[in-house]
Amino acid sequence: MKTIDELLRQGVEGKRVFVRADLNVPQEGTTITDDGRIRAVLPTVKALTEAGAKVVVASHLGRPKGAPDPAFTLRFAASRLGELLGRPVAFAGDTIGSEAHSAVEGLANGEVAVLENLRFNAGETSKDDAERAEFAARLAALADVYVGDGFGAVHRGHASVYDLPRLLPAYAGYLIATEVGVLKKLTDDVRRPYVVVLGGAKVSDKLGVIDHLLEKADRILIGGGMAYTFLKAKGHEVGISLLQEDQVPACLDYLARAEKKGVEFVLPVDVLVSPEFPDLKTKAPAHPTLVAADAIPADQEGLDIGPETRKLYASKLADAATVFWNGPMGVFEHPDYAEGTKAVAQALVDSPAFTVVGGGDSAAAVRTLGFDEDAFGHISTGGGASLEYLEGKTLPGLAALED
Ligand code: 3PG
Repeated sequence: MKTIDELLRQGVEGKRVFVRADLNVPQEGTTITDDGRIRAVLPTVKALTEAGAKVVVASHLGRPKGAPDPAFTLRFAASRLGELLGRPVAFAGDTIGSEAHSAVEGLANGEVAVLENLRFNAGETSKDDAERAEFAARLAALADVYVGDGFGAVHRGHASVYDLPRLLPAYAGYLIATEVGVLKKLTDDVRRPYVVVLGGAKVSDKLGVIDHLLEKADRILIGGGMAYTFLKAKGHEVGISLLQEDQVPACLDYLARAEKKGVEFVLPVDVLVSPEFPDLKTKAPAHPTLVAADAIPADQEGLDIGPETRKLYASKLADAATVFWNGPMGVFEHPDYAEGTKAVAQALVDSPAFTVVGGGDSAAAVRTLGFDEDAFGHISTGGGASLEYLEGKTLPGLAALED
């Protein structure tokens, strides 16, 4: 994979450089609640501006349906990028239209323009190769060089991720280079014990990675909504907790395979339950009840791991040499259900192991719960992307940079 350093050595002064970033940040109205992904692309953007490039930043945000939708504008992410760079950036209200062209034409060397959400165009995510290729060609007209730095989107075979880098000289930015370097440490010659903590809502999102990790990890700790399908597979009633009944056979298979391979597969022993989901807006006290994981009442749902599980998971993490964590342990957005996620984060902070927090909700949790990012080995900007990498899949956005 050619990296941006090679591009910088060749010189980029006056060149239009298209940076495919992942500025898909969580927002409440016009406020960005976690700007981690914007900060993550700064090294690449700064290096290019300092070298005199005309930088065109593009990204998706959310999942609009292939047409402009003000709820998914990149305008606010663009102005946050400007704040973090310490200089205004131009914003084009379209992606391949007249605004984009005049924003790019108006760039002086060392300046930055951000295009509107790529997914406002059906061609970006189209399954039709010709439609994607046509959109990619129109994006290519805006630039001389491509830098891929949207690690969070490299598992998508989208026009700006997969097709465009084939039309322009293409390089990996600093973020992608760093993320891939870290993930390699989790797949090649991993230091043991290797402990994996998986949470989040759905077992079905994690099937591939569990399958793969059963061959790699020494211990797998399960929390979050997905734990209840495993508890069900163990024969426990889970009340009205999140349950993917159709995944129970897969969970049973994993439990059996883990036992056969000597992989410790650890499930919650106690959980916080309530008859109702908490109000995440008002954060009104939820008054949960603590129950054993095999005694969830029929009318209650599990919303966080309990104190015994927190202790158990901390002890299972204490002697780890490598840790990968993806997915919160409970509804951490509500203070009454944040302790499980906090306990895992704290165990990672206290551990001398090489610790990787894998994207999405867990990365946001670490930051919003007030942990110092530097206390972790690496906080990935890619949730789905890092999981698919660990599954051993070919990621289109990386393959395109390798060709
Ligand atoms: C993410 O949030 O995981 C990335 O930005 C990719 O977004 P997507 O799942 O909508 O493709």
